[in-house]
Amino acid sequence: MKLNDRRQLRNAHHIVILTGAGVSAESGVPTFRDKETGLWEKYDATQLATPWAFREDPALVWGWYEWRRMLILRAKPNPAHAAIAAIVDCVPEVTLITQNIDDLHERAGSHAVVHLHGSLLHPYCERCRSPYAHPSEIPDLPAGGARVDPPHWEACGGRVRPGIVWFGESLPELEWVAAREAVDRCDALLSVGTSSQVQPAASLIERAARRGAVTVQINPNSTELDTAFSVRLQGPAGTILPQLVKEVWSVRVESVSGS
Ligand code: OAD
Repeated sequence: MKLNDRRQLRNAHHIVILTGAGVSAESGVPTFRDKETGLWEKYDATQLATPWAFREDPALVWGWYEWRRMLILRAKPNPAHAAIAAIVDCVPEVTLITQNIDDLHERAGSHAVVHLHGSLLHPYCERCRSPYAHPSEIPDLPAGGARVDPPHWEACGGRVRPGIVWFGESLPELEWVAAREAVDRCDALLSVGTSSQVQPAASLIERAARRGAVTVQINPNSTELDTAFSVRLQGPAGTILPQLVKEVWSVRVESVSGS
């Protein structure tokens, strides 16, 4: 990273960090579009990640998300999550926006995470929208899941659904407003582990670039929006981010236990 870019990050008053599936890849949580390992390379999103799919075959969809919840509950945050949590202590204001539906940022010590795509850990009743608490035991499901009937919410009898945003659904209003508002005030945006293919989340990157913010991409591969970035750091986030934190703020990232 050039001296001038380092200086701009060090002098930033407000940094937005936008994360995608790649930030959790080194924790063993699969991404969506990486060749061979990506979920959408193996599974059909139209059968699993739309409201119509859930209506059509609730047990297939619920079982698949239960399998993913099991993976997340058994995963631990990695040095990329720890480095992001450390940046909060170095900069006057940081807004962490994630497309991920896991809680690895929180377990690494980040607070007030803006979850644009919801959370696998917060299902709710389709009918009355009451939150549903999963039983405390972790399901034990084979890779790819198995058919599991979704529970029904005892108060109204409605079916419980995963607390995530599916294709064809809008982003949660408060989170989307908070994300845009943060991007409109930031001096720098770090985009970590996202292919920048899914809208409207990816539009935040161009929005920051248009305003003249420093935009940094951390990714081992090139993405749809390579040209929108002022700086591209190529490599796994678990290596690049701790290095960045050391170079820019002279802070050593401690590993996290994440339980
Ligand atoms: P993708 O799977 O589209 O992209 C993951 C990105 O992470 C790719 O660009 C990889 O190159 C990169 N990557 C892989 N390993 C990495 C590592 N160790 N360090 C850093 N980067 C790494 O995932 P997203 O961009 O998050 O939507 O996908 C966006 C949305 O599409 C998801 O939130 C999900 C999906 O459909 C919903 O669930 C609603």
